[in-house]
Amino acid sequence: MEVRAKKAASAGTPIVVGMMTDRRPAAGAVEMLASVEAVASAVFDALGFEGKAGQTAVVTTSDRTVVFVGLGDEADAEGLRVAAGTARNAVKKAETVATTLHLIEIDGALPAVVEGFGLADYQYQSYLSDPEERKPLTLEILDAPKGWKSVVSDSSAIIEAVALARDLVNTPPRDKAPLDLAQRATDAASDTSLKVELWKVDRLRKEKMGGILGVGLGSHRPPCLLRLTHTVRKPKARLAIVGKGITFDSGGLSIKPSNMMETMKSDMAGAAAVIAAMIAISKLGIPVEVTGYAALAENLPGGGAQRPGDVLTARNGKTIEVINTDAEGRLVLADALSLAAESEPDLILDLATLTGACKVALGEKIAGLWSNGVEPTEMVTAAAAAAGERIWPMPQPADYWSLIESDIADMRNSSSSRYGGAMAATLLLEQFVADVPWAHLDIAGPAFMSKAEHYIPKGGTGFGVRTIVELARSMAE
Ligand code: BES
Ligand code: MN
Ligand code: ZN
Repeated sequence: MEVRAKKAASAGTPIVVGMMTDRRPAAGAVEMLASVEAVASAVFDALGFEGKAGQTAVVTTSDRTVVFVGLGDEADAEGLRVAAGTARNAVKKAETVATTLHLIEIDGALPAVVEGFGLADYQYQSYLSDPEERKPLTLEILDAPKGWKSVVSDSSAIIEAVALARDLVNTPPRDKAPLDLAQRATDAASDTSLKVELWKVDRLRKEKMGGILGVGLGSHRPPCLLRLTHTVRKPKARLAIVGKGITFDSGGLSIKPSNMMETMKSDMAGAAAVIAAMIAISKLGIPVEVTGYAALAENLPGGGAQRPGDVLTARNGKTIEVINTDAEGRLVLADALSLAAESEPDLILDLATLTGACKVALGEKIAGLWSNGVEPTEMVTAAAAAAGERIWPMPQPADYWSLIESDIADMRNSSSSRYGGAMAATLLLEQFVADVPWAHLDIAGPAFMSKAEHYIPKGGTGFGVRTIVELARSMAE
């Protein structure tokens, strides 16, 4: 997306303005409303447009098009993101759109508006024989505030990172074996100052990464671990982020039913968010040391595959009985979390499409948050709220440990009960973070949407990128 500051919209350009409940014009809308008044109220009546959040009314007169978008009773930054995305979809064909939405007097209005338009402008066309020829949107900011350029440049870095994460998730699984994904991350990091390290199978063996190796056994395409490091001169804090990167989850020998497998190319969405966020953090020059880990493997039932009943030893020496090979995310995370914990960062955040149970609990739009303390919960909750990503805190009940007790190993990888599956997973993860403050986001729901909504497309969403960036920013303060 290209963004320009303008005194007035270019000729023929639709202008997006905000309306509050009961058709009260928001800041920047009064003049536009006056200019189309002759037709506006008739159009509002016909469309039932009242100014409620999510409503739009496109009013075209002989000399202009105005897109009225509802903001409800009170707009916040996320309301502006949603409004901008909704408005962009209402005039999908337009190559240029002007707006006054950012004039609403709330904190972070301009970046939110830019993000809403930019995130809505995403399309995945890499596998179309005849892709639609479409220029990226040009956004005209009317009455831009001083300093708009640096705001727009920071927002653009975030928008691009989210688009990268979406692209990686949307890529068909044949074309993103673990080493392919590592290569794409390396390419994307090439114009940043990130340090890139790749541990292939030999190194994984030397480093005792039994979880990642175990999951990778069933595929001809080997697993790997990618580490990206953002270093700064005097870091204000140290953050580690860890992503589950199962490039395809068939379930392994505990094979999934085919309908459950259809979207399992998205099982690397945590790793995609980590990779993309690392690139944004580097471009933004956030003064925090951030290390990103992507635990990459393909979970297939090939002849070498691990079996239910096998026991593996993770990086920190703890043993796990693999009761269900479809509970593979926690196995790769066990290694990556152990490694991350060794450097004793101030906080570890992992992101994983970990359990269907979390998706059942919170639905498609909300991620579950677990942690080993109050502070990590508060930090991640605040970051997600500022970023406009929806998460909800979940319990980590110590007495549920019995669900994953094994007869022969330190723990088993899947619960002995039908119930509380997301908790069984997080209790296992906690075994691998030592005493380091840790939070975990189960993004099984919001990583991949079955339906588009405002600035969020169908398919890969890039969920988590904005929360990670916001978390790093908050740790710089
Ligand atoms: N990748 C899945 C979880 C998932 C399900 C993500 C649906 C997104 C949408 C994970 O590896 C998995 O298979 N989990 C199992 C765990 C069970 C075998 C203990 C599950 O949730 O059924
Ligand atoms: Mn699985
Ligand atoms: Zn999985």
